[in-house]
Amino acid sequence: MKNQKTGHVIVLTYPAQGHINPLLQFAKRLASKGLKVTLATTPYTLKSIHSTTVGIEPISDGYDESGFSQSPSVQAYLDSFKTVGSRTLSELILKFSSSGSPVNCIVYDSLLPWALDVAKKFSIYGAVFLTNSASVCSIFWHISHGRLSFPVTQESGAPLLMPGLPPLDLPDLPGFLSQPAPHTPYLALIFEQFVSLEENDWVFCNSFEELESELVNEMLGLWPLVMIGPMVPSAYLDQQIDGDKAYGASLWEPATDKCIKWLDKKPPQSVIYISFGSMANIAAKQVEEIAWGLKASDQHFLWVVKESENKLPDEFLNTIGETGLVVTWCNQLEVLAHPAVGCFITHCGWNSTLEGLGLGVPMVGVPQWSDQPTNAKFVEELWGVGVRVKKNEEGLVTKDELEMCIREVMVGERSDQIKRNVMKWSEAAKRAVSVGGKSDENINDFIRKLF
Ligand code: UDX
Repeated sequence: MKNQKTGHVIVLTYPAQGHINPLLQFAKRLASKGLKVTLATTPYTLKSIHSTTVGIEPISDGYDESGFSQSPSVQAYLDSFKTVGSRTLSELILKFSSSGSPVNCIVYDSLLPWALDVAKKFSIYGAVFLTNSASVCSIFWHISHGRLSFPVTQESGAPLLMPGLPPLDLPDLPGFLSQPAPHTPYLALIFEQFVSLEENDWVFCNSFEELESELVNEMLGLWPLVMIGPMVPSAYLDQQIDGDKAYGASLWEPATDKCIKWLDKKPPQSVIYISFGSMANIAAKQVEEIAWGLKASDQHFLWVVKESENKLPDEFLNTIGETGLVVTWCNQLEVLAHPAVGCFITHCGWNSTLEGLGLGVPMVGVPQWSDQPTNAKFVEELWGVGVRVKKNEEGLVTKDELEMCIREVMVGERSDQIKRNVMKWSEAAKRAVSVGGKSDENINDFIRKLF
């Protein structure tokens, strides 16, 4: 069936905002080039996803009522997803096989590695989609292949050297790699996906070659690596697909109108936009430091606090007036694209990093966990598009540190250079996904195999 050129792809996403966004955008890109594409996700998240060009179908994680929050533990959730997900994904493929558009490829989120077994069972193409940078994935790959020991240590004090990467210190690595075994269920899953990486027909990465060129050169012979990003809605980069100003999936209600009306009244590049993505749970003490750091910076700010609203000091809320706007969720892309925004304080989740870079907004990196410390290091040192905070002995970013980083990016000595760099990378991101760009051509090559 691998040679059957039916041109129907199932794109399977993990049901979290930072995963649905790039996979849905990829699905839309494939559909815009004439492929039949079906996005498969869990019933709980399915109702938040909209597309006129991509079919949306449920597959089950075993918790159809309210998803992950219904499960007793991370391990129980992942086990259930593997068992029930494999079965329901198989049923979906069987349903299409008798419908006149049989599926000939599964593109699956790297957090769902069992989908490759389903692809093999049906003898169709299997391709993994990496939602982290290729650099971060290569670090996991080195560990899962015994090229770097786990937990990672730096006893001699010398930086860690890996092909295609700059020298890295322990705090630059993805959060949990220096913590002692046993692995958390997520970390075990991450290693599992990298053990079988070479068995995929394609390894798609939401990044672009120019951004990680040295690493790509090192990895090309080792994985079937294909850079296809950045998967940011076309309206902001190349205008190829449609006018969508959002990904088309929001797990929370965005206060978009309120934000845009407020931003419309502010001078160009005068506003700090601050958000820590969809997963971070910021401690009350840290929220307070951020609040006073923003206040001390004396700039306008728009802050997405998500569930941290009750951690904001009353004294702060009572004094912000028109200087600041606090919301629980927004359309981040529309905010970043607004001319009033001049700085993005971000946790450096990979989507946020690509969005800041693609839309040309200088960043202050405040990494929390996972891949974020590595992304923040690259933002500051490799791409020069921002600065990253230093944490104190307690692991806190103090208000003084945050204020200093904001000034550095908005008005400091490095400010002009940072602005020039981010515009340069924004142009490179646009080139990559535009007609004839490297990511665009890579997607065309993939599609040619399926038709
Ligand atoms: C996590 C990881 O941090 C990330 O690196 C990984 O690749 C995917 O899982 P998350 O922490 O949510 O994701 O951050 P990020 O990757 O930045 O994704 C957040 C997404 O939510 C972005 O696409 C952003 O545009 C969107 N968002 C965020 C909103 O639409 N509104 C908001 O108010 C905040």
